[in-house]
Amino acid sequence: MTEIDRIDAAVAAIQAAAPGFRPRLGIVLGSGLDACAEAITDPVDISYADIPGFPKPAVDSHAGRLRLGSLGGVPVAMLRGRAHAYEGHPMADVVRPVRTLARLGCNAVVLTNAAGSLREEVGPGRLMAIADHINWSGLNPLTGPNLDALGARFIDMTTAYDPGLRGHLAAAAEGIGLDLAEGVYFWYPGPSFETPAEIRAFRTLGADAVGMSTVPECIALRHMGVKVAGISTITNLAAGMGAGAALDHADVMTTGAGMAMDLARLLTAFAGIAADDL
Ligand code: HPA
Repeated sequence: MTEIDRIDAAVAAIQAAAPGFRPRLGIVLGSGLDACAEAITDPVDISYADIPGFPKPAVDSHAGRLRLGSLGGVPVAMLRGRAHAYEGHPMADVVRPVRTLARLGCNAVVLTNAAGSLREEVGPGRLMAIADHINWSGLNPLTGPNLDALGARFIDMTTAYDPGLRGHLAAAAEGIGLDLAEGVYFWYPGPSFETPAEIRAFRTLGADAVGMSTVPECIALRHMGVKVAGISTITNLAAGMGAGAALDHADVMTTGAGMAMDLARLLTAFAGIAADDL
């Protein structure tokens, strides 16, 4: 079975579970943000276990379900839970769910995540639109023979995070009175958090936030010509900042959960504004 066959098998299973439904916008929910799914109306849930080729997410707060429905009047497909490279999943498995959303018809995908901030003035509780990313991991989901049916061998990443969608995010935030930061996301594959020295190095390199996801999905979606928007929920100051407290996954989850409603409002307003572009 080729990778294209695997993706198409997933598409077929989803279409069989929701005949005639064609999503235009995809959303990937990051750690701790599952409550966002409540914002979707007329929901249909499909367990990842019932979609062939979908990896089972191990992070406990990840629901492991695809939710189809409507958000801000737009038909959406929301991935509630993602697989991370640090779980040992091959890169093809990490990006198969977003590739599936693209093949289902999504022209744009919003990638969300929990992240640590490298800027004191953008503290826990803030949302940050991703303007660009830095991939220093040495990993890339496009490594290996090119999947010509999906896209070209060499892809442009100049506007990886679509400027038009970023404008809609800013307008949506302003419309609901939400203070949205904007910055560069640095992918650190984890699962250990960074050292303070690494954080200082990443800041020098131009990073504003750091996290363990999103970049592989962004690259795979740009390969397919899908527009990408990214939102980081800032759950903590990065290692060595602030009072220098130890980083704790449980704190990341708790802070993230408290931001899920802000994110839901932002996504709903965004979908309404972006509808004509999707
Ligand atoms: N580092 C990496 N990933 C994260 C962090 C962090 O500080 N916070 C939430 N996810």
